Amino acid sequence: MVVGPRQVVQRESSGRGLIVGPPGMPERYTGSSPTATVSGPQHPYNEAPVFGLRTETSPEWVETALGDFDSFLMDHAICERKASATAMSFISHYPDRRELVEEMLGLAQMELDHFRETVGLLHARNLVLGRDEKDLYINSLRKEIRNGREEYFLDRLLLAGIIEARGCERFGKIAAALEAGELKEFYRRITRDEAQHVSLFLRLAETYFPAAAVQERHGQLLDREGQILQDLPLRPVVH
Ligand SMILES: [Fe+2]
Ligand SMILES: [Fe+2]
Repeated sequence: MVVGPRQVVQRESSGRGLIVGPPGMPERYTGSSPTATVSGPQHPYNEAPVFGLRTETSPEWVETALGDFDSFLMDHAICERKASATAMSFISHYPDRRELVEEMLGLAQMELDHFRETVGLLHARNLVLGRDEKDLYINSLRKEIRNGREEYFLDRLLLAGIIEARGCERFGKIAAALEAGELKEFYRRITRDEAQHVSLFLRLAETYFPAAAVQERHGQLLDREGQILQDLPLRPVVH
């Protein structure tokens, strides 16, 4: 049985939401770490690593997502489908880059599995997939992609990794806030999977570009991501 998420936001006497973390010390994923700079705020109730993200997702976002979990889940499903499509688009744009093609084949398959699972959760709740909506976050990030064959390739790799990092961070917060049960375990697993994808894109960037160039550009794009996220309205969506 899937446990509903609505009970997990406790109220302080002030009425402000308090997100409940896991019992005892918060768990943190300690799998493979990215090679680029890892810094930024600590995430006390997050089950995911920070990956250099400049801003931490607010408790208000977690409350918003859990408060309309059906909408959040519908958006999550669409994000998984797009992640699989992104991996396939790397293959079609760069068919001659052997390592990239091999890694993106695996990624496309894993994201498709995530998509299948999220659609399963939707259907179990008698929901159906929604239509694509304008994604302000993704569209704003895309504007940061530079022209020029190599610059374009590097920026696409790094932005894909940053998008994975933000998804990982937020799924980690959802996992931490949910009551024990199947849904919590699902989000824990998704968080671990997405963390691997962050590392994968950074590793690929350093496969094709010098480490110093990767780190410099990664820092610039992380700065922009933090600014873009802060300007977005609070909605029950992944971004
Ligand atoms: Fe995924
Ligand atoms: Fe992913």
